[in-house]
Amino acid sequence: MDQVEYVKSLSDESVDAWTSVMLLYKAALRELDTKVAILNEEFQHTHQYNPIEYSKSRVKSPESIVKKLKRYGYEESIENMVTYCNDIAGMRIVCSFTSDIYRMADMIGRQNDITVISIKDYIRNPKESGYKSYHMLVTLPIFLSDKVVNTRVEIQIRTIAMDFWASLEHKIYYKFEGNAPEYISRDLRECSGIVSMLDAKMLSLNTAIMEAKKEDES
Ligand code: GTP
Ligand code: MG
Repeated sequence: MDQVEYVKSLSDESVDAWTSVMLLYKAALRELDTKVAILNEEFQHTHQYNPIEYSKSRVKSPESIVKKLKRYGYEESIENMVTYCNDIAGMRIVCSFTSDIYRMADMIGRQNDITVISIKDYIRNPKESGYKSYHMLVTLPIFLSDKVVNTRVEIQIRTIAMDFWASLEHKIYYKFEGNAPEYISRDLRECSGIVSMLDAKMLSLNTAIMEAKKEDES
């Protein structure tokens, strides 16, 4: 069943229902953490380097969930929250190189028990702000004692450089409450271009290093 059906199967909109729903999201992140760790280890074994610098996951705070529902114009309810809030469970995977992002996304998407709901490729199509990242909305089955609930997780995959840009931009955005002066937005877009240059340069450097290593070995 999906999460909306699950919410409907619960007795009422009580604290208990809230806890039951949050339990699903936490379980989904634990599953995904393990999956990603396994992929990283396998990749390390076959390619001799870790594609993942680090990854972290979080469950959205109740305050942020309520704020988002309000922003979208929906009433506060558990059903609305599981229907309209896609990033209650969120995982961020920070990769070494841009090529690793697509490899990771592909490996995740090909897992039999994961269903990819949607993809937003803000690397090929950056946001107006200059934001770059690869987003996947997926569901994975959570096995409870008497039912299986397909639970949604938003996965953001980016390079260290993209992550650096996004963290600083996020802070600046909050400082100005979304109304940063034009020259700041412009500089941020410029920095986003520099991030892409840096990523491209680091990738070709890595390719050159791997080639040199191969020649050394042969
Ligand atoms: P939200 O309602 O903000 O979640 O947007 P959405 O549902 O249209 O999804 P989108 O893919 O645009 O954004 C999802 C998440 O990506 C956000 O919650 C942020 O974490 C991140 N994000 C999107 N745009 C930006 C941006 O311009 N700057 C930064 N720093 N992060 C962004
Ligand atoms: Mg979001």
